[in-house]
Parts: sequence; C-alpha cells; structure tokens
Amino acid sequence: MLTPPFHLQVLTDLDEVTKVAAESIIQLAQTSISDHGHFTIALAGGSTPKRLYAYLARSDISTQLPWDHLHVFWGDERHVPPAHPDSNFRMAHESLLQHVPIPPDHIHRIRGECPDAAEAAQDYEDTVLAHFQLQPPNIPRFDLILLGMGADGHTASLFPGTEALHETVRLVTSLWVEQLHTHRVTMTPPLLNNAAHILFLVTGEEKAQTLRAVLKGPQDPDRFPCQLIRPSNGEMTWLVDRAAASRLNP
Ligand code: 6PG
Repeated sequence: MLTPPFHLQVLTDLDEVTKVAAESIIQLAQTSISDHGHFTIALAGGSTPKRLYAYLARSDISTQLPWDHLHVFWGDERHVPPAHPDSNFRMAHESLLQHVPIPPDHIHRIRGECPDAAEAAQDYEDTVLAHFQLQPPNIPRFDLILLGMGADGHTASLFPGTEALHETVRLVTSLWVEQLHTHRVTMTPPLLNNAAHILFLVTGEEKAQTLRAVLKGPQDPDRFPCQLIRPSNGEMTWLVDRAAASRLNP
C-alpha cells in the first residue's frame, strides 16, 4: 500500500485525465517559473500520455506554456534510434514538440541509438547533472515528472524483478528487460523521488487490478515497482479514470 501523502483523483475518462493533467502542468510551470525562473519536466512514454501531449500542442493551450523557460527530459527510453516507432522521444516530438516554439537545446533526449545502453544511461545522467549544474552525490530536482503504470506494475522502465529497482546511487541506469527481450534506459528511484511533483496518469480497465494492488495492497515493490515511487520532499498525484479505479474500494 502506498503511504500518504499522495493525492488520488478519479476522473471520468482519458479525456478528463488529459485536461486535468494539462491544467496541472500549466499551473506547475507558472509556479516554477515565478519561483526559480524555469520549469523542468520529464515526460513519460507509452500510449496514455500521447493524448496529453497532443492536447498541449493545441494553439489555445500551448500558448499558456513558457516554452523559452521550459526544459524537457524523459523518464525512460527504449533502446532504439529517435526515429524508431517505439521511441518515446519520437512519440513526444510528433505529438507535441514539433508543434510548439521550444528552443531545440531545451529538448534533452536519451540517446537510445547508442549501441551500448549502459553508455546511453551514463551519458544521460551526465546530461541531467550538467543541466542542473550539480555533481554527484547531489540529486537534481525536477519540477515535474510524468509517469505511467504498466499492467504489470512497472513505471518508467523500472520493471518487476529487475536490479534497477534496487539502485540507490545511480540517477539513470540501463537494464535488460527479459519480459520484452530488450534493453531500456531509465531514471532510477533516487532521481524520480527527488522530484518536486510526480504525476501518474493511469487509465483503462486492464490497469484496475494492478492499481488496486499498488495503492491498497501490501508493500511489494519488487512485484509492483510503482510502489517505489514516493517523493522524499514533494507531492505525488495519481490521475486515474473510473475504469482503472474500478477495483478500488469507494
Ligand atoms: C514506456 C513508459 C512506460 C509507460 C507504461 C504505461 O516507455 O513505455 O515510460 O513506463 O508509462 O508502460 O504505458 P501505457 O500508457 O501505454 O499504458
């Protein structure tokens, strides 16, 4: 079971999750910029956030975001080139980034094309530290990290039963995901949990049993890696639709 404090909002459907998420992002961006002059966000991959990214690209919405003061990172990436159909960068670029006036050097993608996934992970850790002008063991603090949840309880590319779940020092790591027969590059719990805000987006009936296990079941992070995510000094909100929440007690 996830110990509070976290916020759970059960919304009608993906459309409403999208709209509430967009409002949250705009609000957090404005707060971050008035507080420290910039807004640094890490995007989630997969299919759920695609609707959100397309919504943020709408001219009536995108003009509410301060692109000149906004930097985009990714919570994880597949071990593929940026033009590959599976690339999280490609998905966000096609649905959002190519449609908005974000300076190109504000887009910080994971080099999924690198033949050695471990090298891509080290490169990205260096990129994140350089952006925040920090050296280890200091941990960068993202203003917002978007996350999804797989039906198996994974988040980012922290998959059940993998060594990445137990990483306590590295900020970004690579891993072999036997279930998918591929390497992945992912932010680790130390980096994710240092965020000021974490926003989970979870929709669909196929996630209901797992969402119940994550939020209400016993602590078992090796089986349900989402349970590893709890900001040490920040806020966490789960935006879920009714279908995904259908197994949660009222
Ligand atoms: C990825 C994502 C991953 C995703 C979940 C949920 O690279 O696939 O980062 O963690 O958020 O798998 O994916 P859906 O939104 O497609 O259900």
